[in-house]
Amino acid sequence: MAAAEPEAALPRGLRVLSGVKPSGTLHLGNYFGAVRQHIALQQDNHAVYFIADYHSLDAVRDADERRRLSLDIALDYLALGLDPARAILYRQSDLPEVTELTWILGTVTPMGLLERAHAYKDQKAHGHKPDLGLFAYPVLMAADILIHRANIVPVGQDQKQHIELARDIATKFNLTYREVLTLPEPYILEDLASVPGSDGRKMSKSYDNTIELFAPQQRLKKQVMGIVTDSTPVAEPKDPNTSHLYALWQLFASAAEREEMSARFREGGLGYGELKQDLLARLMAHFESARKTREELAAKPDTLEDILRDGARRARETTGPLMDAVRSASGLGT
Ligand code: ADP
Ligand code: TRP
Repeated sequence: MAAAEPEAALPRGLRVLSGVKPSGTLHLGNYFGAVRQHIALQQDNHAVYFIADYHSLDAVRDADERRRLSLDIALDYLALGLDPARAILYRQSDLPEVTELTWILGTVTPMGLLERAHAYKDQKAHGHKPDLGLFAYPVLMAADILIHRANIVPVGQDQKQHIELARDIATKFNLTYREVLTLPEPYILEDLASVPGSDGRKMSKSYDNTIELFAPQQRLKKQVMGIVTDSTPVAEPKDPNTSHLYALWQLFASAAEREEMSARFREGGLGYGELKQDLLARLMAHFESARKTREELAAKPDTLEDILRDGARRARETTGPLMDAVRSASGLGT
């Protein structure tokens, strides 16, 4: 089945780095907005992806849940096409030296920078009492990026500010000691695909409007059938451009199919139920082989652990020399 491909030409020959928070079940928004493009970027770049389990400490307080969520997201990426022979996939806590870099960077990070960061400001605005971890979150994220000498960081628009902070922090370090850290650029993914949820708002775990990638078929059916539509009678003409059902359907259609379906919308006579059934069938077909791969891998937890550990080992080929340079520049250790 011809599914929509990312339209923009992808960068090549760069050091690409991104982190994924293990915070729940992947949905279509995550896939089209991030995961698919992460996987595409492994093609002609040095791509490194990690499961941000240190970052999840703020949101998840149960050890078993964190372990399960971390392995789940690794399974998702591998099932969806991340090739561990090409890209590096590791678990953040398997590279604890990133917390050493976090401390060092924290000492050149002005409080004012962090006070302006979204996550902290939002929590405060909602009357929460943020802990030091949340306040310092952008410093850990800067360390995640800088430890790999990343050139580009593919993230959603919401993370852009954090990449800018990473640049500021790197500049501070370089000015304080010497030019050791590479300044990263954000590579914003959201412009390529903003996927609506079943209620027409942006698809998000927080809105309870998601269509999950690997949910059992019955659950998926419920999510697809639950897509909210207007009450235009079947016979009436409809506008595909204002229909989030159409927006979801077209993610799994070729250009010719989209054109044909748009024409059917405009002519009238199209029932939303029929389109939902077709969307469900396309969804199942599109992710069928990923679903199978995921089940096979889930049955081999040792293989999964090996992949993650090997990822951390290969990551160290870069992060080891970088940490040596940071320690040497700042007069730490021998
Ligand atoms: P959620 O909103 O469900 O909590 P996250 O914030 O964990 O999702 O999203 C991780 C990444 O997935 C985002 O940075 C963004 O790139 C992408 N993403 C999430 N939802 C969407 C969406 N509805 N459309 C496009 N991209 C999305
Ligand atoms: N903060 C990112 C998010 O919430 C996840 C993340 C952590 C990350 N460290 C990173 C993304 C480093 C890119 C680079 O989605």
